[in-house]
Amino acid sequence: MKLFQGCLPILILFGLVLTSVLVHAQDDQSGFISIDCGIVERSTYTDNVTKINYVSDADFIDSGEIHNILSIYNSFDVDTQITTLRSFPQNTRNCYTLKPTQGKGNRYLIRARFMYGDYDFKGQLPEFDVYLGPDYWDTIRFNSSSKPTNREIIHVLSSDYIHVCLVNTGRGTPFISAIELRLLAGDMYKESTEFGSLYLFSRVNFGTAFTTVRYEADKYDRLWSPLLWPNSTYLYTLDKVYTSLSANDPPEEVMSSAITPEYPNASININWSPHNSTDKFFMYMHFADIEILKRNQLREFNIYLNGNYWIGPFSPFNHSTVTTYSTEPETVAPTYTLTINKTKNSTLPPIINALELYTLKQFPQKQTDDQDAAVLWSIKSTYKLNTKNWQGDPCTPPEFVWEGIGCNYNDTELPRIVSLNLSSRGLNGGIDPGVANLTMIHTLDLSNNNLTGTVPNFLSELNFLKVLVLKGNDFVGPIPAGLQAKVDKGSLSLSFDDESTSDPASSCDKNTCKNKKGNKIIVPVTASVAFLFLILISFIAVWMIKKQNEHGLDIRKKQYTYSEVQSITDNFSVVLGRGGFGTVYHGIIGDTQVAVKMLSGSSLQGDKEFQAEIYLLLDIHHKNLISLVGYCNDESHKGIIYEFMANGNLASHLSENSSFLNWEERLQIVCDAAHGLEYMHHGCKPPIVHRDIKGTNILLNESFQAKLADFGLSKAFPTEGGTHISTAVAGTPGYLDPEYYTSNRLTEKSDVYSFGVLLLVVITGHSAITKNENDIIHISRLVNLKLAEGDINNIVDPKLQGNFDINSAWKAVELAMACVAHTPSIRPTMNGVVMELNDCLVAERARRENKAKKLTGLMSLNLESAYDPTPI
Ligand SMILES: *[C@@H]1O[C@H](CO)[C@@H](O)[C@H](O)[C@H]1NC(C)=O
Ligand SMILES: *[C@@H]1O[C@H](CO)[C@@H](O)[C@H](O)[C@H]1NC(C)=O
Ligand SMILES: *[C@@H]1O[C@H](CO)[C@@H](O)[C@H](O)[C@H]1NC(C)=O
Ligand SMILES: *[C@@H]1O[C@H](CO)[C@@H](O)[C@H](O)[C@H]1NC(C)=O
Ligand SMILES: *[C@@H]1O[C@H](CO)[C@@H](O)[C@H](O)[C@H]1NC(C)=O
Ligand SMILES: *[C@@H]1O[C@H](CO)[C@@H](O)[C@H](O)[C@H]1NC(C)=O
Ligand SMILES: *[C@@H]1O[C@H](CO)[C@@H](O)[C@H](O)[C@H]1NC(C)=O
Ligand SMILES: *[C@@H]1O[C@H](CO)[C@@H](O)[C@H](O)[C@H]1NC(C)=O
Ligand SMILES: *[C@@H]1O[C@H](CO)[C@@H](O)[C@H](O)[C@H]1NC(C)=O
Ligand SMILES: *[C@@H]1O[C@H](CO)[C@@H](O)[C@H](O)[C@H]1NC(C)=O
Repeated sequence: MKLFQGCLPILILFGLVLTSVLVHAQDDQSGFISIDCGIVERSTYTDNVTKINYVSDADFIDSGEIHNILSIYNSFDVDTQITTLRSFPQNTRNCYTLKPTQGKGNRYLIRARFMYGDYDFKGQLPEFDVYLGPDYWDTIRFNSSSKPTNREIIHVLSSDYIHVCLVNTGRGTPFISAIELRLLAGDMYKESTEFGSLYLFSRVNFGTAFTTVRYEADKYDRLWSPLLWPNSTYLYTLDKVYTSLSANDPPEEVMSSAITPEYPNASININWSPHNSTDKFFMYMHFADIEILKRNQLREFNIYLNGNYWIGPFSPFNHSTVTTYSTEPETVAPTYTLTINKTKNSTLPPIINALELYTLKQFPQKQTDDQDAAVLWSIKSTYKLNTKNWQGDPCTPPEFVWEGIGCNYNDTELPRIVSLNLSSRGLNGGIDPGVANLTMIHTLDLSNNNLTGTVPNFLSELNFLKVLVLKGNDFVGPIPAGLQAKVDKGSLSLSFDDESTSDPASSCDKNTCKNKKGNKIIVPVTASVAFLFLILISFIAVWMIKKQNEHGLDIRKKQYTYSEVQSITDNFSVVLGRGGFGTVYHGIIGDTQVAVKMLSGSSLQGDKEFQAEIYLLLDIHHKNLISLVGYCNDESHKGIIYEFMANGNLASHLSENSSFLNWEERLQIVCDAAHGLEYMHHGCKPPIVHRDIKGTNILLNESFQAKLADFGLSKAFPTEGGTHISTAVAGTPGYLDPEYYTSNRLTEKSDVYSFGVLLLVVITGHSAITKNENDIIHISRLVNLKLAEGDINNIVDPKLQGNFDINSAWKAVELAMACVAHTPSIRPTMNGVVMELNDCLVAERARRENKAKKLTGLMSLNLESAYDPTPI
């Protein structure tokens, strides 16, 4: 019984590891411990997004309560791990204990994650301390219930045990959401960790706006946060960027984007302020040139920290990563400015792809000798000791020494256990053989328990043992000769009930024997239940992983080779359309129709836009934005594969000779398009400006659902100010924001302007620009002139023949005119546009329904009169 209970969790873990290995042979999470705190005890799962296998925290702690964050905080973009947590209303200090198999001497990344999510319904953000073993790590504070916070260090283990402890400092109940441990390979961060541990200050991936890059892209599951730096141009490539796994290089996904100053002569300036003015920083900078340089071009720069020369001149390699880092802590300063300046000879501005900042953190206190600690953990589990304070390291910190334990502290040696008092703790069974390993012990008190069996001989081999108290147990047989000899010599004081004096009541009577038999029967039952459970868990794990794999295959965005594209398009046999950058062909993948846009020639401009579009579409998904099926990025053939849109573009449906769209259909289409644009402006961080909203870029699927397409000109830009000086004006005449034209300032409001023009086109059926004898008239001027006349029928497309709700039409016209206002600040936002268009649609639908009702009413009246002629 005892044995099995002790092994159960290990068996289950083992079973899972095994199945994971079988199914996921390519994954290497062998150096990972991934704990999702607060999930169902002993449960496990593979995260849908990261493919990391998480286990419950029950095997790593035996105190605390489990909770879920409130569902209102559990939005789609919240990591599964932080939706559950374990809180610690009891005890000042509660510790998780992890024993990574690779053991001490190795370098680990240790990450603790926290999100409050009002799990206790109190709406009070707690504040508490987290310790690594005996040493203070950090204070956890929150800015909001919904904002997760992480703490991460790179740390060399000096003990086989890692303890992550949460300490109540009287400002709220401590809790934790997840713990992640990652073994780092070889020499990663080695030079820096010789000074101490590295506390993560910041780790950023420049030039991208979207998702955090982590496992599986990063083998070590470092989290690379996206960052767009102000006043920069963003560079990215789809070509391979070489990285070295042995060095500290980021993964390719991180290296394939970068920032460079907007103006060729400017420098890159990165500023930060330390959390604590005494912090000592280590920097890791990662560079790769991801533009293809011409023969006469040179990118060369120097790097300065706080105006002091740091390294250079230096030229990043072509599509290959170079990492430079601090070999010792940087000079302490109140604030830091990293300046990257191009050299005189350089024809190109500097570039940077990624940056890591760490501060030096010392964890000076030594943990208990590993062999001693192992004995205590073994005793704790063998006798199932429910001792609240047996948590964390046994001897340290001294104020939290385990109850019943005496330690010897010596500045030069690790703390050792010198006394152990387990008197009256209800121990039963034999003496744990591990006690033989407590080689420094001088006092051992096991009195008044229900220990049985013989007194083991190994006790006589404990050279420092002076006091041994065994009385009040059910031992049988004589005292081993070795012990007796020590007693006789006077070097050991022994207290023991010999059999003649022992209490008859404590010997085996019938009742206890029966009881013991009963226990024995339970063993196989428990074992088989455990076994079934194990099988079940493995089964579920296999099923979950399989399911995900199937799912993953279907939707995974894919890079196609040119020959695959040839076969998809049946050698480019059906042309769907031709645009500025190339030709669009019809294609079929499996039994799904697709559209394939091939880049014509290889103009640099076209290539940039091609890369921009793929880069964007890989990351944004919305039902009103065209979705990417795949792309082809062979040397001389570049193409993008989209979902197929059966009904072509909106412009073609508005043209003279097409079957016309009714008012409701028109409203529905612009409403869809507005939703897509709203998502780009308000659902993406930072917002994305489409820059080329017009009828031909709004595509319609088989059910006339509209989706925005053509993101080649789109730009993501840093938030807040919301303006971006663009180097080249791009867009379509007539749709282009005049403000943007004159000032070159690009904002979301530029899209709102274009959307307004589109709306006018849809309402009136006119084109954006009308050429009149010797004048060019913009549609907004045209509508403005007609507005003065006050007759909506003169404004709305005559093809509709007055078949529309008047209020709905007025509202749409007013909205469109507000969108094309000259001053960007008075134009509505896309949120506002969506709301107004919805109202228009509701009004029009109500009119149609009323009309339909009237019609059906009339019809049934007719029918009634036909079949049931009323006597008149
Ligand atoms: C994983 O994805 C599936 C299907 O998308 C979903 O049903 C399941 O709840 C997800 N699991 C987790 C843990 O998020
Ligand atoms: C929390 O708020 C403080 C003060 O407003 C700010 O200094 C700090 O950066 C914020 N922390 C986070 C994680 O947002
Ligand atoms: C960006 O440029 C503007 C205008 O030149 C300047 O005011 C601002 O400080 C710059 N921002 C940063 C972070 O350098
Ligand atoms: C950049 O610097 C070079 C040399 O210092 C100078 O010739 C050139 O005019 C500068 N260009 C701009 C745009 O300032
Ligand atoms: C800053 O760090 C020093 C040394 O690590 C510490 O003594 C001090 O309390 C810290 N100050 C703050 C404000 O955290
Ligand atoms: C970097 O170059 C800028 C001008 O290009 C100059 O103002 C600045 O002083 C330089 N910084 C350093 C640290 O040399
Ligand atoms: C600039 O290039 C010339 C010619 O290659 C070289 O002689 C000179 O040393 C370079 N100057 C600097 C500052 O690197
Ligand atoms: C620490 O241990 C060493 C070696 O066991 C011993 O020589 C030394 O005297 C001890 N120091 C203290 C302060 O106990
Ligand atoms: C005693 O310690 C050694 C070395 O740490 C270990 O190999 C052995 O298994 C331990 N013995 C017991 C009985 O735990
Ligand atoms: C231990 O022995 C005492 C006295 O024989 C008995 O009352 C008690 O129930 C036993 N405890 C356990 C846990 O077996």
